[in-house]
Amino acid sequence: MTQGRRLWWQDGVIYQIYPRSFQDSNGDGIGDLAGILSRLDYLVTLGVDAVWISPFYPSPMADFGYDVADYTGVDPMFGTMEDFDRLSAAIHERGLKLILDFVPNHSSDQHPWFLESRSSRDNPKRDWYLWRDPAPGGGVPNNWMSHFGGSAWQFDRRTGQYYLHSFLAAQPDLNWRNPAVHEAIYAAMRFWLDRGVDGFRMDVLWLLIKDDQFRSNPENPDWVQGSNSYGSLLPLYNSDRPETHEIVRQMRSVLDQYPERVLIGEIYLPLTKLVTYYGADPNTTELNGANMPFNFHLIQTPWKADDIARLIRNYEGLLPLGAWPNWVLGNHDQPRLATRVGEEQARVAAMLLLTLRGTPTLYYADELALPNGIIPPDEVQDPAEKNQPGIGMGRDPERTPMPWEASALAGFTTGRPWLPFSPNAQQLSVASQDAAPRSLLSLYRQLLSLRREREALHAGEVAEVHAEDNILSYQRTGGGQRLLVLLNLSDEIRQTEVPQGHVVMTTILDGAGAEVEGAFVLEAGEGVVIELAKTSVS
Ligand code: GLC
Repeated sequence: MTQGRRLWWQDGVIYQIYPRSFQDSNGDGIGDLAGILSRLDYLVTLGVDAVWISPFYPSPMADFGYDVADYTGVDPMFGTMEDFDRLSAAIHERGLKLILDFVPNHSSDQHPWFLESRSSRDNPKRDWYLWRDPAPGGGVPNNWMSHFGGSAWQFDRRTGQYYLHSFLAAQPDLNWRNPAVHEAIYAAMRFWLDRGVDGFRMDVLWLLIKDDQFRSNPENPDWVQGSNSYGSLLPLYNSDRPETHEIVRQMRSVLDQYPERVLIGEIYLPLTKLVTYYGADPNTTELNGANMPFNFHLIQTPWKADDIARLIRNYEGLLPLGAWPNWVLGNHDQPRLATRVGEEQARVAAMLLLTLRGTPTLYYADELALPNGIIPPDEVQDPAEKNQPGIGMGRDPERTPMPWEASALAGFTTGRPWLPFSPNAQQLSVASQDAAPRSLLSLYRQLLSLRREREALHAGEVAEVHAEDNILSYQRTGGGQRLLVLLNLSDEIRQTEVPQGHVVMTTILDGAGAEVEGAFVLEAGEGVVIELAKTSVS
């Protein structure tokens, strides 16, 4: 439903940058803020509206920046606060918005808060983290597991207690039942808001609060031996706790002190639970939770027209009144889109993401169809892979450097890149695709410009979501127009029927303007946007 004044994060498209891998400016093989600054014009010509940058705060880099040692600084590896200010100014000068990644669930074990907390049982910051006595008779306080494998508890010999870490032992969980923690984190959020950032992507938002009685989790009967050990238990008592919503509401009210800021939550939950993070208040029509709880379901749904049609209908049906949808096809924790769906379907995926109702988030280099990198065992960086090797937990493959040019170091660095380039990176580089009028990059540019031009796409309604013969179809309406989107998710040529209209764009970047009516042929992996004639609109 289109309601009231529209905001930039509703009409716009977000682009995620993993800063280690976007552009290196000083030859150390690791991307940095000055590097991002030097590539901003690429984002302008691509046609996105907002940049989300994964963490660049001071960090021992045990989890590559998701272990924060100072919430209000810049790690020297990425630059200085002056570099940040320059980048922020340049982003805003270009009319783009800047979204920071914020990690409230845990800090680094090197954060001064944790150093104090672990120093003694009666330190004033002891209760900033989750300390528990050993179980009666010894051993861990309960059976909770780390997302990166093994127990979520680490024994601290000096004080004789365990602390909780939902991820690495180097990432102790903050105690979100302690109001002093709220104040400290909200102050850090204000620090960046005062510096002009336009919003936050909040890391693992659904994990913030843990059961106050620390009850053990039940076993998961569906767990498959040899998969991530975290999945062996049902995370009943250490995730999606009801009290989390109050924290999200507080975060939202911090942002609401500033005009037009956005709160996005990283949340991996089934749709019915996900939509509760919009914070619908049954007594009012207000939504006071996250503006956009990230919707990762396109990543998790089989790449089949009927599954995706059902997903779109379910999601749309579950959204609370006034909630604005969003869609994600890739991020730094998930295998690359092009590897998941294949290079041919990457074009369909682009059209899907950029014609759905709701804010799309693009992951850097998905617009090039960059595939997963192949990481030799001795070059593995990701602790998720090191902790549980060989079962597909590693995230290095989707974090390989952005290829800008067809040269050996791809214009990314002059040094040794921190991860190897993905296969075919040079052929897929920005420069190579710039030179090819029908490249995937050209398709992304055209789709982004179409989305911006057409109210039906960036602000309109969605209707008639169907699947037949592995063709996904839906209509977008708005601004007096009705657009029909047809996506052939199969690898075979398909014939279908269309009402009277004309072709606006195809994924092959061919045939725009053609009048159509009746039988219509879609090539394998082809998508098309058709503007329906007014007379065929019922
Ligand atoms: C989030 C991040 C992931 C990180 C984890 C722990 O899921 O996206 O990269 O490892 O949180 O902070």
